[in-house]
Amino acid sequence: MHHLPAEPIGDDELRALARRSHDVIAEHQAPSGAYPASPTFSAYRGYAWYRDGAFTAEGMSRYGDVASVDAFHDWASRVLVARADVVRSLVARAAAGEEIGNDEMLPTRYTLDGEVGSDPWWDFQTDGYGTWLWAVVTHARRHGRDLARWADGITVATDYLVAFWNRPCYDWWEEHVAHRHGSTFGAIYGGLSAVAGAGVLDPVRSETAAATAERVRQVALAECVAGGHLVKWVGSDVVDASLASCVVPFGLVPVGTATADATIATIRRDLATPGVHRFAADVFFGGGQWPLLTCLLGWNELAAGDRDSALERLRWVAAHATPDGLLPEQVDDHLLHPEHRAEWLERWGTVATPLLWSHGMYLVLADELGLLPPEESRWS
Ligand code: BGC
Repeated sequence: MHHLPAEPIGDDELRALARRSHDVIAEHQAPSGAYPASPTFSAYRGYAWYRDGAFTAEGMSRYGDVASVDAFHDWASRVLVARADVVRSLVARAAAGEEIGNDEMLPTRYTLDGEVGSDPWWDFQTDGYGTWLWAVVTHARRHGRDLARWADGITVATDYLVAFWNRPCYDWWEEHVAHRHGSTFGAIYGGLSAVAGAGVLDPVRSETAAATAERVRQVALAECVAGGHLVKWVGSDVVDASLASCVVPFGLVPVGTATADATIATIRRDLATPGVHRFAADVFFGGGQWPLLTCLLGWNELAAGDRDSALERLRWVAAHATPDGLLPEQVDDHLLHPEHRAEWLERWGTVATPLLWSHGMYLVLADELGLLPPEESRWS
């Protein structure tokens, strides 16, 4: 059990954890450039996800580790280029009206060397490719990198998403494959709208990406809203904390619009204490609170002008680091379904720690709050 300190954590400690977060991510980045999801956790060891990796890259890019992030995007682009023919064939078959099985689609995670890997997984998820497009464009813009370096991978991801954005798939949490999920729409919108305006695609593809992004937005607003807020999937009436990404960073529903405000307010009401749960029915490791989602909500609160709440979220996350400064995937002091914890501990062992995505999101929120260490003390 972790205990919140009586005194709020001070800014210096928050900065120190940012530095530690950078170092943890850098230490575990593979020579290939991949960011492993969690180097020590039984079920994730040896694998890298586009979703985790892209958000981790965003944190590292904000920290200023350009070389690390370039290497990650090199890996991500290379993995896609190696599957350019597969994607070309999938797109052609879909255009011809052929049935395509989920097991034929691109996987969601790869080995650190960019192979598919032999362990079965809940593999068909499109959001990670959208998040990657958003992350690579955002990084290039921030640091003046030439996107031409990643153009071939960007082209493959764009073609794939343009063809398959509306196809049901697993969500951010690798569940409910039969549904179309609000946060998947958000990530694809974010990715396609980012590349459409980045000058990296040929003009026809740019236009197609822009038109598809707009179509994603329209469908999400028409079909994936209930009670005024975005919902977990088309037909659901509840929120999932990942939906905050549809506001910031992806902009599917811009900050300050009624749908955005209602989505964030519902997540705050139903899922945040200040630590943030994934969704009310979550039983994974008993349904604890996720540092990465706590940072995502804080990022949104800050964008809406609520600095106090954002800082409280960052402090909550920092209070749940291990004594040696590692952030877990989830925290267990407020469980929604404690009766389900033991079965996961038996199956997969203790909660993934460190989870690199948690550290990446910590860097994002720390940067937003101006709480990265000063440039001269960021590096050893
Ligand atoms: C989570 C995914 C995540 C993966 C690797 C899964 O348990 O549901 O969101 O991408 O772990 O961290």
